[in-house]
Amino acid sequence: MKGVILAGGLGTRLSPLTKITNKHLLPIYDEPMIYYPIRTLVEGGISDILIVTGGNSAGDFLRLLGNGKDFGLKHVNYTYQEGEGGIAEALGLAEHFVDRDKMVVVLGDNIIEGSIKQAVEDFEKQPKGAKIFLKEVSDPERFGVPIIDGNRITAIEEKPKKPKSPYAVIGIYMYDAYVFDIIKTLRPSDRGELEITDVNNAYIKNNMMTFEIIDGWWTDAGTFDSLHKAACLVEKKKKSAQQ
Ligand code: G1P
Repeated sequence: MKGVILAGGLGTRLSPLTKITNKHLLPIYDEPMIYYPIRTLVEGGISDILIVTGGNSAGDFLRLLGNGKDFGLKHVNYTYQEGEGGIAEALGLAEHFVDRDKMVVVLGDNIIEGSIKQAVEDFEKQPKGAKIFLKEVSDPERFGVPIIDGNRITAIEEKPKKPKSPYAVIGIYMYDAYVFDIIKTLRPSDRGELEITDVNNAYIKNNMMTFEIIDGWWTDAGTFDSLHKAACLVEKKKKSAQQ
């Protein structure tokens, strides 16, 4: 199983914090944001990791992370996304690295309290398709929102004005290599990006999607409020682990 961390984009929602640096290098409490998705993967048993970066300060990832020694890794792979083509376009850059394997994709600004270890093991056993993770939130209109019918997701709507469920699709996705065929069929959305929600809807349409509701807290960190919230949650978790 491969790991892909998407850490590109211009982070415009955090300007001026992101005027001269990449969002994923900003601090979450006592560590740079990018440390958290790396640890999510490593702790989940994944050590073959590609970081897709772009925008400002892309070279600083190399200076900060090197070969991943601080995470117990021997090697880290890097690639560069030009422009703002969206999450699915960034993932398309991982095709060569993933090489028909399965993968866990983590958005670089998504932080979880718990572990993905069990989910990785379950997905290893899933013969094909994809797996996504949901969390109940108070503001689903900020995210991809699933439409749920019984125990099935029938579709996902990206940032709907009137969400049809109280869940967010979090930014941790498990895919087989079919994802790269899907990405090649995508057209840019109204915001001019290839959307990860369109990728997930293609799997749903083909009945190839499983999902889980995650335990523990989850947050993104791509807005001022969520960046602040992420720091508070992480602080609490780290301090309670010290006691
Ligand atoms: C992206 C996805 C969205 C998902 C979210 C999780 O949104 O498009 O479906 O729920 O990440 O953080 P973004 O915040 O990058 O626009």
